[in-house]
Amino acid sequence: MKIEVVATAQQVSEKLTEGKSVVVIDVLRATSVITTALMNGSGPVYPVETIEEAEKLFKKFESGTALRGGERAGKKIAGFELGNSPLSYIPDVVGGKSIIISTTNGTKAIRNSHKSNSLYLVCFLNLIFASRLLAAKVNGLVIVCSGTNGNFSLDDALCAGMLIDEIGKHTEVKTNDLGQIVRSFYCQEGSIPEKLRNCTHLNYLQSIGYNADVDYCLQTHVYDCLPQLRSEGFITL
Ligand code: MLT
Repeated sequence: MKIEVVATAQQVSEKLTEGKSVVVIDVLRATSVITTALMNGSGPVYPVETIEEAEKLFKKFESGTALRGGERAGKKIAGFELGNSPLSYIPDVVGGKSIIISTTNGTKAIRNSHKSNSLYLVCFLNLIFASRLLAAKVNGLVIVCSGTNGNFSLDDALCAGMLIDEIGKHTEVKTNDLGQIVRSFYCQEGSIPEKLRNCTHLNYLQSIGYNADVDYCLQTHVYDCLPQLRSEGFITL
C-alpha cells in the first residue's frame, strides 16, 4: 500500500486528497475527542471550521438535540456547551446528541481534505483497530497530520508513524520521505509518553491544566472503532 504523510492541515491540497482515502490525525485533541464522543454514544459529529458556522448549524437542530464543542487556544469557546476535553464527552452528556465541533487545527485538516473519497479519523485510542480495518479496506492512503497552528507537531507525527507500522504488519507499505521519518521515530526505543515529553503542544496543554487529557489521549488500544465522514457527519465503523 502506498502511504503519503502530510505534515500540517495547511499543507493539504485538493490535488493531494481528491478521490483518495484520507486519515486525519489530531491526537491532542480533536480526533481523540470525536472518537471518544462517538464511542460514548453521541449522534453524528459535524466538524466545522468557524464559530459562525457552528452557530448557524446549531440553529437548525431542535432544542436539546445538539451540543456545540471545540476550542480556541485550547480553551472552551464562550457560549458552547463543551470544550475540547475528551474527558467531558461522557455518555450522560453526549448520549444521543449530535455534536457540532470547531477546533483550531483538527477541523481545519478535515475541511481541507473535503475532496477525499473517504475520510477517517485516527488517534492513539483507536489506532490498532483502525490499522487492521484500513489494511483490509484501502489500497492507498494519505495521512494528514493536523499539526499546530501551521507547524509540524510531534504527537501527530508519532501517531502517523505507529499507524504506518501497524498497517505494515498486515500488508506491504511504501511511504513518502516524511512517512519514513515518522515510522522510524515510532520504532525507536521508548514509550509514547517518553517520546512526546518535549512536544510543544503537549507541554502547552499541560501548562493550562489539561494533564489528564494528555494522559488519556496517549493510551493505545482503547476503542475498536473507525470514525468515517458521511453526509450526516462522522459516524463509527
Ligand atoms: C486542534 O484542533 O487544534 C486541537 O484539538 C487543539 C486542542 O488541543 O484543543
